[in-house]
Amino acid sequence: MRNYHIGVVGISGLVGQTFINIIEKENYPFFQWHFFSAHQHNLDKISFSNQQYNVELISEDKIKALDYLLLFTPEDVSKKYARLCEKNHVYAIDNSSYFRLKRGVCLIVPEVNISSYNKHYIISNPNCSTIQCVVPLHLIHQQFKLKKVYYHTYQSYSGKGKDGLKELDDKINKNDLNLIPCIGKVNLDYISSEEEKMVAETRKILQLPKLAVFACCVRIPSFYCHGVNVIFQCHKKISLNKIKEILKSQRIIKLIDEDYPLNLIHGTNEIYIMRIRKISNYELSFFTISDNLIKGSAYNAYQILHHLIGLNHQI
Ligand SMILES: NC(=O)c1ccc[n+]([C@@H]2O[C@H](COP(=O)([O-])OP(=O)(O)OC[C@H]3O[C@@H](n4cnc5c(N)ncnc54)[C@H](OP(=O)(O)O)[C@@H]3O)[C@@H](O)[C@H]2O)c1
Repeated sequence: MRNYHIGVVGISGLVGQTFINIIEKENYPFFQWHFFSAHQHNLDKISFSNQQYNVELISEDKIKALDYLLLFTPEDVSKKYARLCEKNHVYAIDNSSYFRLKRGVCLIVPEVNISSYNKHYIISNPNCSTIQCVVPLHLIHQQFKLKKVYYHTYQSYSGKGKDGLKELDDKINKNDLNLIPCIGKVNLDYISSEEEKMVAETRKILQLPKLAVFACCVRIPSFYCHGVNVIFQCHKKISLNKIKEILKSQRIIKLIDEDYPLNLIHGTNEIYIMRIRKISNYELSFFTISDNLIKGSAYNAYQILHHLIGLNHQI
């Protein structure tokens, strides 16, 4: 078995830290990890699997020595280094939104569309709220053919990165715990950037470019996990029992019928689905909660890495 040289940038951030926790638990001996910062001032040591590793400044020469690079950085940083990966035939798995809708770049949720991966050197990890919705919707579409989807999100402050956690701490101190009914900037139709992402990414991942999708995204005063109420309409008549059966067939989904153990969701890999309600013969609603830092970002990226290594090198 050959060794794979895998770089990680953005390790001081929330998603980068979560990724480190995941790989520390898995500890594959043939994965050689390299830790990078894109800032000169952040070059410290990192303790990983009981060893001290240097954090190096990322550069084109360092990239050339890698097989894969994971980027947990803002758009402009991701853009620069993912392009250098592409130029040097190194696979980049990027968490920012920069490449997600670019033509030719695959936006991957392994449970849904890994089979559409086209060997492009840049692979995008989708938006955190979108991932937990498209996994169940994909299964539902295969059986009942989706016609319309409405999302209403309840998103925690860790979705804004480490600054978001500080912001919520400040709000707690000021006793200012309100809902914020808009995430990101609005466009000319008053649709917010977070809502635009959920609509466009859902269509791209499900490969349904004409699917009617509407999203309403709300920030709630919670530190971790995102909740989404999903309402959908199908072309075929829906059977509620069949929906439960197909959702249960997907390992990453945990169906909760009653007793909501919501305090147990933070820190876990799964997508929790509850409150499945019939609206009409063709419409149904369910509520989903998942940890935005895990399946919503770091764990999905980790799964993509595994699939790419398997697809490219037959491990
Ligand atoms: N949080 C989520 O739920 C979530 C979900 C899906 C996708 N994402 C995306 O994942 C990426 C990371 O998010 P996060 O929540 O981990 O953010 P974060 O906590 O703010 O961390 C950002 C990371 O990027 C580095 N960074 C920031 N500005 C930089 C610059 N100008 N040059 C070089 N490095 C820079 C930071 O390093 P320093 O500490 O040195 O500043 C830090 O390591 C973002 O693109 C975000 O949109 C986040």
